[in-house]
Amino acid sequence: MKFGTVVVCSKCKQPIVSGQGFGYVCFKIPGKEANRLNLMRAIRKLPAGNKKLFFMHDVIGYQHSEIAGLVGCSTGCSKSQVHKARKEKTIMTLESTSSGGRVRDALSGRPKVAIVTGASSGIGLEMVTRLIEKGYRVVANSRRITSAMTLHSTADLKLVDGDIGIEETAKHVVGTAIQNFGTVDLLVNNAGVFIPKPFTEYTAEDFLRAMQTNLAGFFYVSQLAVAQMRLQKFGHVVNISTSLVSQPIAGVPGSLSNLTKAGLESVTRALAIEFAAEGIRFNAIAPGVVNTPMHQAETHEFLKQLSPMKRLAEVEEVADLLLYLESAHFVNGEVVHLDGGAHAGKW
Ligand SMILES: NC(=O)c1ccc[n+]([C@@H]2O[C@H](COP(=O)([O-])OP(=O)(O)OC[C@H]3O[C@@H](n4cnc5c(N)ncnc54)[C@H](OP(=O)(O)O)[C@@H]3O)[C@@H](O)[C@H]2O)c1
Repeated sequence: MKFGTVVVCSKCKQPIVSGQGFGYVCFKIPGKEANRLNLMRAIRKLPAGNKKLFFMHDVIGYQHSEIAGLVGCSTGCSKSQVHKARKEKTIMTLESTSSGGRVRDALSGRPKVAIVTGASSGIGLEMVTRLIEKGYRVVANSRRITSAMTLHSTADLKLVDGDIGIEETAKHVVGTAIQNFGTVDLLVNNAGVFIPKPFTEYTAEDFLRAMQTNLAGFFYVSQLAVAQMRLQKFGHVVNISTSLVSQPIAGVPGSLSNLTKAGLESVTRALAIEFAAEGIRFNAIAPGVVNTPMHQAETHEFLKQLSPMKRLAEVEEVADLLLYLESAHFVNGEVVHLDGGAHAGKW
């Protein structure tokens, strides 16, 4: 396996890291200012399939956090840190492209750490499986995640039972990530309920359940995870919404989803703005109907008609989108629809 290193430095006469000693390749931009365009050109020159490691060093006119966000690495890689890392042989990879290796943090070389709520079933379960395959360390939560037996605790996967709408559960979830793995790089707020009913038939219990799971379930765990991400100056929060927010459908009443999930979409944008300068991104995925245990098989033919492409989304497609958002370091404050085009109009 090869490793590639991009060193972008406006002051150094020589590359900071060079030679074959650790199997690194170094790109320098002779005589050119280390601006965004030249940086992106240098990144594009990395051989396909190579792992990438980026050291930011005195990039004129840009904050480290901004450039780091652009290329997707941690900040604070000063020249002395690079030399120290070389000496200690602790220089590690940031991420793999086609290598299939662990996804790692650039500075420490540790695997990235994710929290997924609502992970015992459906979309959350697939996300955990894929993140583990990608080399993440994961804390998975649902009310009965251990007894569901769909996931089993390992060195890289910790299970936390509990209602994520309760603050104590949120503390337990984030605490488990930090105590076992040291950081929180990705939080997926996936736990959610859909209560399909005509508006006037909703009960007080329905209202509280939707608020508790969809909103309180976002609020407490996000506050704690983002507090940790602020210390790291790096992180990504992905909220799972529904395409019904953008396009309510006649005959599919579920206004409690609109009430709660629209809040998730709005707060996604608000927090993207609030924390962009700190290197923390917020995005949302808004699926149409997904083939999960949420829907009984006998309803599938009807539900397929709710997409212009006349099919359900598969959980693998939602997980693919999550991994794309993880890799797309300049995508921030976005709500990505995954509904075969349903949100786009009438068919
Ligand atoms: N399936 C769809 O068609 C669809 C469409 C649009 C959006 N979504 C959204 O996608 C997300 C996942 O849906 P899904 O279809 O994968 O659902 P699912 O198969 O029913 O799974 C829901 C998961 O959430 C957990 N959960 C429920 N309430 C919880 C709580 N209070 N605290 C912690 N965990 C809780 C459940 O496990 P426990 O029972 O053990 O708690 C389960 O792991 C939801 O936010 C949903 O609104 C789904």
